Amino acid sequence: MEECFVINPVNPHYLDRIVHVAQTQGVEASEDIYSASGIKLISKGTRISADVRDRLIVHKLKKPLEHCIRVQNGTDIQQLYEDARALFEESSKLRPLFEHASILSVVREISLRAATLGLLDVAAGQDKHGLQHYLLVMLIGLAIAHRMKCGAEIMRTVAMAGLLHDIGELYLERRYLEEGDSELGDSDWRKIAAHPLIGQKLACDVCGMPQSVGVAILEHHERASGGGYPRGLTSGQLSLPGQIVSIAEMLAALTERHDRPLVRLALAIKLVPGEYSGELLAALSTGLAQHDAEIGADIPAALTGMMLSTLFGQVEAVNALIEACQRSPALDSSDTKEMLQRVKRRFLHIQQALLSTGVGMYCSADGDCSIGLNGAPADLLYEVDVILHEIRWQMRALSRDLQMRAALVSPGIAQAFRALIEALDAA
Ligand SMILES: [Fe+2]
Ligand SMILES: [Fe+2]
Repeated sequence: MEECFVINPVNPHYLDRIVHVAQTQGVEASEDIYSASGIKLISKGTRISADVRDRLIVHKLKKPLEHCIRVQNGTDIQQLYEDARALFEESSKLRPLFEHASILSVVREISLRAATLGLLDVAAGQDKHGLQHYLLVMLIGLAIAHRMKCGAEIMRTVAMAGLLHDIGELYLERRYLEEGDSELGDSDWRKIAAHPLIGQKLACDVCGMPQSVGVAILEHHERASGGGYPRGLTSGQLSLPGQIVSIAEMLAALTERHDRPLVRLALAIKLVPGEYSGELLAALSTGLAQHDAEIGADIPAALTGMMLSTLFGQVEAVNALIEACQRSPALDSSDTKEMLQRVKRRFLHIQQALLSTGVGMYCSADGDCSIGLNGAPADLLYEVDVILHEIRWQMRALSRDLQMRAALVSPGIAQAFRALIEALDAA
């Protein structure tokens, strides 16, 4: 088996998380733990604590720690199935999508190693939401795969990849996941963008999952348009389970943050086409159409108008900065020119999406959109609100993408792009 750089020597962030779980739940060594040179560090049954942490961190271990710990009263496949079933039954926001309880039988049939259950226990112990997000991505993925009439093999791959998709986050410093986007610097984003890669490695090396599961985990933040990460692959380069888990991840995030996730997804997809393949979107269309009738939220017109004015101002500022970058002598290498072309292309796509919605007609020549939306019906305001969120999300995603790519070239290049990165991020 290929040696895994993230697990041996012990990853300090993973170990910190174990110690965190140990404070409330109890974690013990499930077998004697030896250093690579054969020194016995901990006996079977020893409780993991901050003291033990110090002993484990300084040695390379004979066997990765992931295989040698047990969380007391940890989960098992029956418990995961029960939790998934409860989530399936209680998710009223996703009711049209969660129509066939038969997808739960796929969950029941998954087989997971003790080390995999241990990783899930550590993930569950990190915050009050436990494994909800992992299970939600798995269930949404399964529901989509079921609609696409995928075979048993793909269904199993989607279930396992959905369940484990964010497992790589356990190996990142906690602050990266807790801080707001704006507080994260170039190298921070590069680290966050590595979590699908770490997850793939863990799935294959620790969890013993088939390669297809690792690939789908690697692809869970990719988009068919090429705007995702870590590799910026496009639809023809992505596996079907990877694409399913990616859209499931997006829909899970919408479900966790908003009231009408399916309506939001439908509008977002209409707004920025090409993010997901047509096959996937066709599979989702019935559920989305059923929810269309429910639009009608209480969105304040004045605030929406103001936000729209601000957005148009930000678009203008970004265009001016792209032009300034094109003239900058610090950015005239072939690498940076290509990077700039990529930003230009993607930003044009975002602007076209914004213009195609027709929201510009509510704004006056001097860019004031608050009067035009005065007295607008609730469904229109809701749509404008979704458009605002999606366009701003797209601009921030482009900012992160540029930030990571520029930092990979050199700190000087990242600095030369700084104003553009910040203008995109301000959206
Ligand atoms: Fe996720
Ligand atoms: Fe993720």
